[in-house]
Amino acid sequence: MLTKRQIVDFLEEKDEVVIEALFRQADQVRKKYVGDAVHLRGLIEFSNYCKRDCLYCGLRRSNENVVRYRMTIPEIFNTALEARNLGLQTVVLQSGEDPHFTIDDLCSLVRSIKTDIGFAVTLSIGERTYEDYKRLKDAGADRYLLRFETTDPVLFKKLKPDSVYEKRFRCLEWLAELGYQVGSGIMVGLPGQTMESIADDVLKFKEIDLDMVGLGPYISHPNTPLQGSENGTLDMVLRVTALTRIVTKNAHMPATTATGTIDAEGRQKALQCGANVLMPNSTPRKYREHYLIYLDKICIDEEPHKCRFCVESMVIGLGRTISSDAGHSLKSASC
Ligand code: 5AD
Ligand code: FES
Repeated sequence: MLTKRQIVDFLEEKDEVVIEALFRQADQVRKKYVGDAVHLRGLIEFSNYCKRDCLYCGLRRSNENVVRYRMTIPEIFNTALEARNLGLQTVVLQSGEDPHFTIDDLCSLVRSIKTDIGFAVTLSIGERTYEDYKRLKDAGADRYLLRFETTDPVLFKKLKPDSVYEKRFRCLEWLAELGYQVGSGIMVGLPGQTMESIADDVLKFKEIDLDMVGLGPYISHPNTPLQGSENGTLDMVLRVTALTRIVTKNAHMPATTATGTIDAEGRQKALQCGANVLMPNSTPRKYREHYLIYLDKICIDEEPHKCRFCVESMVIGLGRTISSDAGHSLKSASC
């Protein structure tokens, strides 16, 4: 197990040879613990309304330049159906924290995607009550993604002024307790983030025994208070990806869209130093341009089938295979 000091040293390392060796080690750990198959999860961004005002996020409620949209429940269902027709086996339903959708609506959506389409369902809809999480689990939801964004409580409060640090971690505990496969993660390169705090983040992934870890660079958005701040770098994202793989061993780790946004080869590189999941965007094209969490997001002009086949050729180009199963957690406690 790496210590905090060792992680910080890798994050600060200047010698490229050492970093190349770190990437190779992470790739071997990935191969040994999660294999060569890459899991595909269709991402449906079903609402860009958000009641929160996180300083980094383009969808924050104070951003009046966003054209807000909400897909209807039947529209979301049909989008999931289309994902199945593209050969996917699971969807991630993601939105801002949008109180418009009642838990009853969401439960019936989850139930119908589970039973009529036969998909594994992942939710990424933010902080909710224990009772809400329980009802969604009872309706059949399998997994939940909720990034804690940073373990640094001071930075957290500054960037998420209307969220409570302890509540976020409590949500992650509840989700695990309820039997969800739980994913969390961070942004790399947040303004004010230190190497020490990233090392704490990596150790936290292990401590809370996550089933999935999502990492991407922070990318500044012009209509936020952080506009003009520096973006996270691919190099740093890859280092954190590699270290997270080495520390967590068998967590599922996506090569994220944000990583593909800062570098055309970003996702391919992440897949070669620890990542084993891709999330092709399955959101109907007409909504995509409005789900701009950050600037210059890729795949805005693509239809779902384009992303589906683009990621497949990416995987094949790397000599890897597409997983033929739903990609459940590899941790023994889950499923
Ligand atoms: N740059 C990169 N990622 C971002 N996210 C939010 N805003 C940004 C940004 N400006 C990430 C957060 C959130 C996820 C859905 O998107 O980590 O949890
Ligand atoms: Fe969307 Fe490549 S993943 S075009």
